[in-house]
Parts: sequence; C-alpha cells; structure tokens
Amino acid sequence: MEYILSPSILAADFARLGADAKEAVEGGAKWLHIDIMDGMFVPNISFGAPVMKSLRKVNDAFFDVHLMIERPERYIDDFLAAGADLICIHLEATEQAEAIAKKVHEAGKLFAIALKPATPAEAIAPYLSLCDMVLVMTVEPGFGGQKFMADMMPKVAAIKEMIRKSGKEIHIQVDGGITLENLSVATEAGANVIVAGSSVFKPGLIEQNAAAFMEAFKGL
Ligand code: DX5
Ligand code: ZN
Repeated sequence: MEYILSPSILAADFARLGADAKEAVEGGAKWLHIDIMDGMFVPNISFGAPVMKSLRKVNDAFFDVHLMIERPERYIDDFLAAGADLICIHLEATEQAEAIAKKVHEAGKLFAIALKPATPAEAIAPYLSLCDMVLVMTVEPGFGGQKFMADMMPKVAAIKEMIRKSGKEIHIQVDGGITLENLSVATEAGANVIVAGSSVFKPGLIEQNAAAFMEAFKGL
C-alpha cells in the first residue's frame, strides 16, 4: 500500500493553526491527523469539533480524526458534520464499535479503530472487517512529543498478517514519536500511514519537515 503522511496538528501553534496546517500540506502531506482529547479517556484536553470545523473551511486535506474520548458514540455526528474524512475511535473507550462503523460508513467516510499500547493485537480480530484502518499507538495516548515504543512493532506485524489473511485492503497507522530516523522500523513492520506531530511542526520548518518525510517514503 502507498505510504501516507498524516501530520498531527496537536503539535501546531494553535494561534496560527490555519497557516501551520497549510505549510504541512504544501510540504506534500495529503492527510492531517486531528487529535481530539477529552481529559477523561486521556489526561489531556486538546480541542473539539468547532476548531476542526474552522480548519475545514480553509484546508482541503483528508481529515484523519483520532478520537481519544470516552464513549465516542456521543460525538460521531458532530465530527462528521465538522468535516471528518476518517473517524478513528479507541477500542478501549466504547462498546459501540459496530454501530459507530455503520454510521461512519453510511456517511461515506472511513472508519478506524485505535489500540493503546497495552491492548493486544488479538483484540482487533472481531472488528477487523469493520475497519478501513487500524491505528497501533506507539506512545501512551495523551501527549505529543513522547518517545517511540519500538516494542509495538510485533503488534503491527501481527495485525498486518491478520489483514493479509482477511484479503481486505486495510491501512495500518502508527502514531507517536515517529521521526525520520525510526520511520523505517514502523514501515518494515507493516505500517503505511505515518503520524508525525513534533517532528513536523517545528516553527519555520513545517513545509520542509513534511517534504522530508515524503522524500523518505520514496526510499522505503
Ligand atoms: C498522542 C497523539 C499523537 C501525537 C503525536 O496521544 O495521538 O497523535 O500528537 O505526536 P508526536 O509525533 O509528537 O509523538
Ligand atoms: Zn493521534
């Protein structure tokens, strides 16, 4: 599958969110990763659907929305209305994965499930057929700028094998601590959608950093 860069705007300067996001797209990113944190499922609070809706008005990228919220079923309509192209929920946060997948697919959008580091690969098996993408967290969700957990790579490889057996085309995303240096560790394990927050959104270097990832993809 093709490699996709999804820069996480959590690491952008929120006072200049539109401009920062534009720079990432100018560097070649087709997706933007939108981290929604509720202060409950994770200890941090980021921003909500109204902020995303404003960004939607000025940016045409594919919005990859990572919902780190308890009982995400409460907010699916809001994020679809605010312009999500993909909705990713955490398996640990809901018992409504099937119903959410149905709603997202009926809206013509992509559905994904994320797994925290402690959640094993096997947990996704009953839900794999619902998914357009599986997100394997490579940090404990809640904060940007943490260290990449290389020990999640066997989980990526196990999910890759499940996907191969299923015969479906399903993306595998990795999120947390990805840099140009460890990128190939994740792609060799089977990931093709790469989230990068702090390694892209450095003031004055955003376009250049995104472009460097796009260039690195060519060498993989
Ligand atoms: C962590 C978020 C990540 C984070 C990635 O909870 O889900 O998307 O923004 O940021 P970096 O790339 O800085 O680890
Ligand atoms: Zn994320």
